[in-house]
Amino acid sequence: MVATEALKNDHRIIEKMLNVLEVVSNKIEQGEEVPVDILKKATDFIRNFADSYHHGKEEDLLFKTMEEKGFPREGGPIGMMLIEHDEGRDYVRALAEGIEKYASGDTSAKKTIVENARNYAGLLAPHIQKEDNILYMMADNIIPEPLQRELLNRFDRVEKEKLGEGRRQYYINLADELEKAIA
Ligand SMILES: [Fe+2]
Ligand SMILES: [Fe+2]
Repeated sequence: MVATEALKNDHRIIEKMLNVLEVVSNKIEQGEEVPVDILKKATDFIRNFADSYHHGKEEDLLFKTMEEKGFPREGGPIGMMLIEHDEGRDYVRALAEGIEKYASGDTSAKKTIVENARNYAGLLAPHIQKEDNILYMMADNIIPEPLQRELLNRFDRVEKEKLGEGRRQYYINLADELEKAIA
């Protein structure tokens, strides 16, 4: 298995949560009540699984290895991905603030939630496509087998450090759970 395959597996789980954000946004817009608990769990997933863990593996390990193989960090495809990760962080920060306000009874925060959830999903879905179809292919071409194994081992360590041992499965289950809850 190559390292990008593990990252692609993450993408399929993240896509489930992007779908949750889309559905939840539509519900809120149509005046339906969405439990705060669902919104908070979705935000926890994005912060910890999508950002800290998945983007962490890309930024600290995959992209870094590509740089060592001659890809520039600034400009070019890696630079573009880094900018999009940062943009995503801004949306999640605003989304979390909106949820806090909404939880304390400020219904005007619904607009902030819908806007930032949609912006996040609208950014991440094509971001994932670009990585799956372009950037990861470039990575596969320049990262030799021994380095692939090394990367996979280091990915496991990131799981322990950023999520806690075995917590990847918790987030996989959470994506399924929230998909069912909003269906
Ligand atoms: Fe990424
Ligand atoms: Fe990614």
